[in-house]
Amino acid sequence: MGSCKFSKFSVLCLIIILFEVSAKENAQLVKERVSLLSFKSGIVLDPKGALQSWNSSGVHVCIWTGVKCNNARDRLVQLDLSGLSLHGRISPALANISSLAILDLSRNFFEGHIPAELGSLLMLRQLSLSWNLLEGNIPSELGFLGELVYLDLGSNRLAGDIPAPLFCNGSSLEYIDLSNNSLTGKIPLSNECGLTELRFLLLWSNRLEGHVPEALSNSSKLEWLDLESNLLRGELPSDIVRKMPLLQFLYLSYNDFVSHDGNTNLEPFLASLANSSNFQELELAGNNLGGEIPPIIGDLSANLVQIHLDENLLYGPIPPQISNLLNLTLLNLSSNFLNGTIPPELCRMGKLERVYLSNNSLSGEIPAALGEIPHLGLLDLSKNKLSGSIPNSFANLSQLRRLFLFENQLTGTIPPSLGECINLEILDLSHNELSGTIPCEVAALSSLKLYLNLSSNHLQGPLPLELSKMDMVLAIDLSSNNLSGSVPPQLGSCIALEYLNLSGNAFEGPVPASIGQLPYLRVLDVSSNQFSGRIPESIEASPTLRQLNFSFNKFSGNISNEGSFSSLTIDSFLGNKGLCGTIKGMPKCRKKHAYHSLMLPILLSIFAVLLCIFACHQLRSRFKKKLVVLNRGDLEVGEKEEKELKYPRISYRQLIQATGGFSPSSLIGSGRFGHVYKGVLHDNTRIAVKVLDSKAAGELSGSFKRECQVLKRTRHRNLIRIITTCSKPDFKALVLPLMSNGSLERHLYPSHGLSPSLDLVQLVSICNDVAEGLAYLHHYSPVRVVHCDLKPSNILLDDDMTALLTDFGIAKLVKGIDDKLADDSVSFNSTDGLLCGSVGYIAPEYGMGKRASTLGDVYSFGVLLLEIVTGRRPTDVLVDEGSSLHEWVKSHYPNKLEPIVKQAMLRCAPSVMPACYNKVWNDVILELIELGLICTQNNPSTRPTMLDIASEMGRLKQYISTPLSQVD
Ligand SMILES: *[C@@H]1O[C@H](CO)[C@@H](O)[C@H](O)[C@H]1NC(C)=O
Ligand SMILES: *[C@@H]1O[C@H](CO)[C@@H](O)[C@H](O)[C@H]1NC(C)=O
Ligand SMILES: *[C@@H]1O[C@H](CO)[C@@H](O)[C@H](O)[C@H]1NC(C)=O
Ligand SMILES: *[C@@H]1O[C@H](CO)[C@@H](O)[C@H](O)[C@H]1NC(C)=O
Repeated sequence: MGSCKFSKFSVLCLIIILFEVSAKENAQLVKERVSLLSFKSGIVLDPKGALQSWNSSGVHVCIWTGVKCNNARDRLVQLDLSGLSLHGRISPALANISSLAILDLSRNFFEGHIPAELGSLLMLRQLSLSWNLLEGNIPSELGFLGELVYLDLGSNRLAGDIPAPLFCNGSSLEYIDLSNNSLTGKIPLSNECGLTELRFLLLWSNRLEGHVPEALSNSSKLEWLDLESNLLRGELPSDIVRKMPLLQFLYLSYNDFVSHDGNTNLEPFLASLANSSNFQELELAGNNLGGEIPPIIGDLSANLVQIHLDENLLYGPIPPQISNLLNLTLLNLSSNFLNGTIPPELCRMGKLERVYLSNNSLSGEIPAALGEIPHLGLLDLSKNKLSGSIPNSFANLSQLRRLFLFENQLTGTIPPSLGECINLEILDLSHNELSGTIPCEVAALSSLKLYLNLSSNHLQGPLPLELSKMDMVLAIDLSSNNLSGSVPPQLGSCIALEYLNLSGNAFEGPVPASIGQLPYLRVLDVSSNQFSGRIPESIEASPTLRQLNFSFNKFSGNISNEGSFSSLTIDSFLGNKGLCGTIKGMPKCRKKHAYHSLMLPILLSIFAVLLCIFACHQLRSRFKKKLVVLNRGDLEVGEKEEKELKYPRISYRQLIQATGGFSPSSLIGSGRFGHVYKGVLHDNTRIAVKVLDSKAAGELSGSFKRECQVLKRTRHRNLIRIITTCSKPDFKALVLPLMSNGSLERHLYPSHGLSPSLDLVQLVSICNDVAEGLAYLHHYSPVRVVHCDLKPSNILLDDDMTALLTDFGIAKLVKGIDDKLADDSVSFNSTDGLLCGSVGYIAPEYGMGKRASTLGDVYSFGVLLLEIVTGRRPTDVLVDEGSSLHEWVKSHYPNKLEPIVKQAMLRCAPSVMPACYNKVWNDVILELIELGLICTQNNPSTRPTMLDIASEMGRLKQYISTPLSQVD
């Protein structure tokens, strides 16, 4: 049966091939074949082998990859080589394919100039060269392309002025995208040449200057005008946009525009937009716009979805008429000089999701009516002069995720009803005049994922026990209040906590040992309280704690300078009379019989006075720092929305500077989603920028969002931490810290014939890190995450060779901890279009069903262990032996393992190794093999969990690093 099928197939192939070869190419096509081959010779790297079919013999040119001919098959009309990762230069020979109508070379690595010869392709209707590394000027010859409808040169490194002919001859142009380059000069449009058919003009992120040209008003069909992030100035272009009734998106943010009438009147501009009935988004942020917000803003199209007027010079009240915009979902008026009260009418805009009014001078009470906006997810009223109490009605905001009321003059108590906002992730009420106790209903908000900041108020009373339910919160700041009583040991249940500040209160009693056992705690400040007793040993033993402050309490006992204390100075212990120990500047612990019984108290008190003067000073500056730290904490953690103000705002331009304009020399990798560049920010932070393909970014925006969501929510020392994201309509990137030691892949298989450099101790430690990271993803992170693509190239190594997992791009969010789904897995949606995992590492069940599960990750981890021990890539084994790596190892188990173990000893035992260690290394290698085999069992249900594996790896790591005690 099989052979029959095969032979039928071969015959069919033969027929096709014969047909293709015999179909004769006419003289024109033969010439065009030559031009294509000449173009191919300009390509220095074709990593996907896309152009293999382009060769001088055999195949008809009309079926070469990316080539399309007309129906008569006598002219070549289309060349589409987008997204093939081609490196090289664009050969001018293309200009000889005179019938070409579509030329798309976007999303490759083409360098050098755009050949001026392309200007002779007079039939060209579409020219796309976006997302390459093209530099130099735009050739003015492109202005000859009279048929051109679609021109996209965006996201290159083009410089110089836009040649005037480009916008002049092209009366047929409907789409122009020159965004994201370094173009200078004015927008070259004059009245003689109108782009009358233009619907899209995208020039964002360049260095264009001058005014918006009058002649743009001839483009009365314009729907999308994006001039954001340039150096344009002058009054807002009212007369121009008035002539564009079809306008839907207008982006003028981050320029130097001013309002009319000497920068006092915004009304003419808003009036000029009133006729655009399809208008949807207005972005004017980051200009110098002065004047009041005129009531006429309410006359804009009812379809308006977003308004950004932030970072301007607007003053006066917020007009209640704005609430006519019933379709508005986002309103950003922050960072202006607005005053007056918040109009309660805002609640009429029932679709509002995000409201930013922070950093103005708004006063009066917060209107209770805001509690009636059903979909409100973010409310930022911080940094105003709001007074009165927090309305009870906020309890109705069931969608609210982030509430920022800090730096106002709010009084009264924290309403217990806030506890009904069951989706709240961030609550920041700090720097107000709030009094009373912390309501247990609020303390019980287990949804809080990011932080709770109640610092610098007048709160009193004890810490509610319910606080222990915040098992996802990363930071809690209760500093500078009047809280009292003892700290409940149950606080140790806030398992995700990284930052805890209880300073400046009246807490007493001991600090519970459970706090030192918090697995991710980095910062602990308990200073300026009445804490007493010994500092728990668990704190000293914590592997994660970095910043500690115990000053100005009544602690006593003996302090060593070991563990987490080893990096501390006396500053962390000031003002505790009972402490002694080996920290520099601290009194030595004395034997019982204190002689000098008279001198000691005198000396101590002089010392204490001096210390106090010094310490108060230190403390003040440290307090300031703490505030900064907390705000940063907010930056580092995030949620779904990528465009979050609180992230450090790294602009596209800064990314350009950091990466040398995404130059080829800073390219450090490419994956199926795009390219990764390295770079250095102004503050010398070394970063990796993962840029998504623009087309892929559109198609895979689900993946981008998913990656951000996962990256921002999961925090662990063995998971790569996101610095920020940069997202524009046409550009999406993740900014990650650069890992100096590259990927594990590079160390396992170094290029240039170097021998692998990692020894067994390092490898075990790396596997332990990976296991810890995966265990966190599977068992502790706020949303359970399946990594789905574990392999050496997704394991990065930092300075001290700590391993961090990366590339969660295809990770599947399995379920929230409290999700009711009983299943451990999630089914793939066919529209996902993404395959889980990489060849060689995929669990066998993925081939049969279609479910990603944590046990699939366990399988991949097992493959990784076997790979590390054998030094063989799973794909190589497939090729050489025809079986999977684990089958190959299993075929040697248990009696024929010796050659594998010996081989491993040769490769990765440290060069200087006392003979007595031999047995230890032997044992460890055997254990790694066994663990690898257990993890790669075909039946998922008999594989161990990542928790078991992590503890096993921890034991191995311990064993190998202190083997002597175990060796007999
Ligand atoms: C030309 O391309 C065909 C089809 O891909 C391939 O079979 C053949 O080996 C190629 N010939 C040369 C000389 O590269
Ligand atoms: C285009 O073709 C002509 C001959 O038909 C040839 O002389 C010329 O070199 C070609 N141009 C390029 C850029 O290859
Ligand atoms: C809001 O937008 C929707 C969809 O664009 C539209 O159908 C509806 O009419 C708009 N609402 C108002 C009040 O105009
Ligand atoms: C708002 O500020 C203006 C001056 O910019 C002042 O005249 C006006 O009284 C202020 N209004 C309120 C309500 O404070």
